Amino acid sequence: MPRRRKRDLLIKGFSKLLKEDKLKIVAQLMDKQVESMELMKSFWHSDHSVQKIFDEFSENTISNFYIPYGVAPNVVVNGEAHLVPLVIEESSVVAAASSSAKFWSEHGGFHSVVVDVVKIGQIHFIWSGKKEKLLSVFDDLKTTFRVATKHITENMEKRGGGILGFELVDMTGRMEDYYQIKVSFNTVDSMGANFINSCLEEFAVELKSFFQIHPIFTGKEKECMVIMSILSNYTPDCLVKTWVECNIKELNGLDNELTGEQFARKFQMAVKIAELDEYRATTHNKGIFNGIDAVAIATGNDFRAIEAAGHTYASRTGKYKSLSTVEIKDGQFKFLLEVPLAMGTVGGLTNLHPLAKKSLEMLGNPSAQKLMMIAASVGLANNFAAVRSLVTKGIQIGHMKMHLFNILNHFHATEEEKKKAEEYFIGHKISFAEVTEYMNKLRQC
Ligand code: MEV
Repeated sequence: MPRRRKRDLLIKGFSKLLKEDKLKIVAQLMDKQVESMELMKSFWHSDHSVQKIFDEFSENTISNFYIPYGVAPNVVVNGEAHLVPLVIEESSVVAAASSSAKFWSEHGGFHSVVVDVVKIGQIHFIWSGKKEKLLSVFDDLKTTFRVATKHITENMEKRGGGILGFELVDMTGRMEDYYQIKVSFNTVDSMGANFINSCLEEFAVELKSFFQIHPIFTGKEKECMVIMSILSNYTPDCLVKTWVECNIKELNGLDNELTGEQFARKFQMAVKIAELDEYRATTHNKGIFNGIDAVAIATGNDFRAIEAAGHTYASRTGKYKSLSTVEIKDGQFKFLLEVPLAMGTVGGLTNLHPLAKKSLEMLGNPSAQKLMMIAASVGLANNFAAVRSLVTKGIQIGHMKMHLFNILNHFHATEEEKKKAEEYFIGHKISFAEVTEYMNKLRQC
């Protein structure tokens, strides 16, 4: 088949085509079409029933995209040791989390508390009435809402969750006639997005008829335009705090050139810089999400929602800052992370993805709160490892070693070749060109 040109790319009814036919169209954009199709198909799962599960997660699937699934051992949270599953493509993240976890497992482990687990949904509506008038019948409206969603909330209530409260928010100062009803929920062990959105859409229907039916409203007050009803991914009250602490003397030996005290002070300054400067804060927080996202993906959680909440939380004072802080007091070093984490351990992908299920089993089928504490601890572990490297030997030594293995894999290096290359490159600069030259020479010998 000839290669497709850009102007041929508008396709009607693509979603209705068979997977094989979709793949054929896509392969027309690639070099070596037959080989490309075969390569894409080689990533299909050999068990059709498993492949079907993956195909049904999304739309227009043509293959599966593999990401390494690793494990960080020795993650001690509140005295309990875990092997934590991490799904991530970045080479050094699992190694960094593991080395930090090991260090802290010998220094008291991670301490963690869930501050609260409140999630928020909003109905955004346009209504040309006075807030006080709506507030005077707000209890009636709340009852209407609760009755209308009883069929949805009953089960959640049995599990200890449900609707926590309603708040009328007057936004008319920011946009004419704009109000919100802000609803708070406890979704217990589920992430709760479907539950919250289902409730909100019912509330929206009820809200419109409430204005029409209630005798207190007259004229234009009877009309309400619901703009949208949706959960908020900003969950500042679904919050976890995790910290490590030790006597600064216990930090002796973390670097050959710094005493424990010097290390602690330099580390503290590095974290302070991430509080002062948003360029550094963004990278600093990215290092935290290296760990958190990897746990989220491994356990079938929505890492985009978690990241979005985290970054908004990092800006809550009006300035984007580091999510972690350091305190040195009376000879004690304390490194603390405070982050909103809306995670679930039941429902959604957590039950559907066969590996997410196994990840949760590996963690002892934790509650959502426990998973929040584990994920935050891994985030802090990665943050500690990154800042530790940055203030001592730099991150490139570790990164380049992983990079070396990636390049060697590119050359299909044997185990013996890898061993020789690893020794050689201890004292030599690692780059693709250097490794290519080395491999050529090695293979000529
Ligand atoms: C790389 O993925 C993450 C780091 O850049 C984080 C940091 O700089 O703190 C190492």
